[in-house]
Amino acid sequence: MKICVLPGDGIGPEIMAEAVRVLGALDLKFELEHALLGGGAVDATGSPYPEATQKLAREADAVLLGAVGGPKWDTLPREQRPERGLLGIRKDLNLFANLRPAILYPELANASTLKPEVVAGLDILIVRELTGDIYFGQPRGIEMRDVNGTAQRVGWNTMIYAEYEIRRILKVAFEAAQKRGKKLCSVDKMNVLETTQLWRDIAEEMAKDFPDVELSHMLVDNAAMQLVRNPKQFDVMVTGNMFGDILSDEASMLTGSIGMLPSASLDANNKGLYEPSHGSAPDIAGKGVANPLATILSAAMMLRYTFNEEVAATRIETAVKKVLAQGYRTGDIYEPGTKRVGTKEMGDAVLAAL
Ligand code: NAD
Ligand code: IPM
Ligand code: MN
Repeated sequence: MKICVLPGDGIGPEIMAEAVRVLGALDLKFELEHALLGGGAVDATGSPYPEATQKLAREADAVLLGAVGGPKWDTLPREQRPERGLLGIRKDLNLFANLRPAILYPELANASTLKPEVVAGLDILIVRELTGDIYFGQPRGIEMRDVNGTAQRVGWNTMIYAEYEIRRILKVAFEAAQKRGKKLCSVDKMNVLETTQLWRDIAEEMAKDFPDVELSHMLVDNAAMQLVRNPKQFDVMVTGNMFGDILSDEASMLTGSIGMLPSASLDANNKGLYEPSHGSAPDIAGKGVANPLATILSAAMMLRYTFNEEVAATRIETAVKKVLAQGYRTGDIYEPGTKRVGTKEMGDAVLAAL
């Protein structure tokens, strides 16, 4: 099992150290190769996704990533920004299917900002398309133009999907729904945007091939509202790259904290990149207080999806449940009466539970 480990920036190295320790405690043989991605890579090589990292990532069976980015690099030209490295590796490895499961562990019902009865028992899967949409569409840019007779700056992007891109992500979502609660909600903005009208049309066509799945559609603004009004109405949600980015951050708060939300980004052969859904959290970086559980749970997803090691994946998830039941909490999920711990102590607790 060859894993390319990319700790990244900010809290990335802190949370990754705990995930690597957890992997090391399993009775499995891994070959771990560390490499640079993001701001650290820009500082060292001038590129956010250097060639050495490209080579390792392509050769590995899976990639485990912390997070990238930070204020230090926000003013660089766009092609040198850490985020470009992340988008680059996703595109390079053709990781079009991003799975973001939002599960509420019962012990965290009070950590959510929503009423416990609204979120108790929550288990939804957001399937986000990851290599298309307005994130990658051409043309794009900022330039001077003549607007009604005055020269001024204009910024523009292109929201675009080809049929094959829509079909392959919907197939992933339909199949995921078949294995779960058999309900699929496709989220679009077809009342305004042609690209998402095409998305809805194709979803309707494909529904005939999945008669056991109940397909519904929802406009994205309503979906954002329904997620906090009554999130348990959802089983699997599928949507494009940008809507999925936004809705998955929203869904993370239903689980108590974004520090709890893992993710898998898969290609057509289940080669994958696994990373927490959150960012590099510059506000708490270097303090040893970040929640490592999203990264540890991402490692569990890696064992399940890329390596078919279901037993080991479940062992990690069971250990996480146990430490939450024992009352261990990082600051983001802390509530009075529980034990406040830092990143490393949380890792220690997971290792002990394993
Ligand atoms: P963020 O997710 O980094 O942080 C948002 C808030 O959540 C912050 O208050 C942060 O402290 C908190 N938070 C995030 N992860 C946490 C954890 N594990 N434990 C405890 N608290 C946590 O989002 P942002 O502040 O908008 O972005 C910061 C940087 O991260 C930007 O440069 C952005 O581009 C980048 N980013 C990277 C990724 C990624 O690498 N996948 C994802 C999102 C944002
Ligand atoms: C995420 C992040 C990235 C995205 C950024 C950092 C490019 O927000 O993984 O959710 O928008 O996809
Ligand atoms: Mn995001």
